[in-house]
Amino acid sequence: MDYQVIIPAAGSGKRMGAGYNKLFLELAGRPIIFHTLDVFASDPACKKIILVVQSAEEEWFLQQLGKETYTTEIQFAHGGTERQHSVYNGLKSALPEGVVLVHDGARPFIEHDTIGELISVATKSGAAIVAVPVKDTIKKVKDLDVVETIERSSLWQVQTPQAFHFSVLYNAHARAEAEHFMGTDEASLVERAGYSVKIVQGDYDNIKLTTPEDLYFAEAILKKRHHKREERN
Ligand code: CTP
Ligand code: MG
Repeated sequence: MDYQVIIPAAGSGKRMGAGYNKLFLELAGRPIIFHTLDVFASDPACKKIILVVQSAEEEWFLQQLGKETYTTEIQFAHGGTERQHSVYNGLKSALPEGVVLVHDGARPFIEHDTIGELISVATKSGAAIVAVPVKDTIKKVKDLDVVETIERSSLWQVQTPQAFHFSVLYNAHARAEAEHFMGTDEASLVERAGYSVKIVQGDYDNIKLTTPEDLYFAEAILKKRHHKREERN
């Protein structure tokens, strides 16, 4: 089933501490963002990529993209002050039909199988997100005092991609903007607008590269995938 994807890439990477957009950092000799773009550009079901970038960085992206052989259409949209604004800007330049995915530029390890399952569930239900069961015990804390231990079996750690019928995501964003609501993912806006959201179980490898130690995990994941490929060949 065909889809379009919005990839927010307009952050500043403060927690990574590189002093510039963390998506420019290289993994195995390629900027992180290109590992992410590779996944969608090599998926025949992905008909259009909307890459949301800071205006000042558009030139860098254009130059780097010039070195690639992608055949999928890649359209630019301008980043906003918060991730939610960036995604909404991207959504405004999407085709107003079908299923739209949102996927963080900083999650290069998403796999085609998971995307396929997500699209299939979202097509039927209107809204679906990738998540994994929480492994640690999670407690609610106030001023370093434990308030409550939350039952772990009901907790899921949410990732991207998140997939929606175009109108579901558009209505949810328009409403959030009108009501000045800021959420940390698309699904929170969609839930708030009254839609139900399905979970698709993903993979613990689909990490978001956020702080410097995530780069070590990323190297380990790349190494594991390299060994798997060698075993298959
Ligand atoms: N993002 C964006 N526009 C923003 C903020 C974030 O497009 N105003 C993008 C980032 O480029 C990233 C994704 O949203 O691909 C997830 O955000 P996050 O991991 O928080 O990245 P940054 O905001 O860059 O990092 P930090 O919060 O540490 O500054
Ligand atoms: Mg951020």
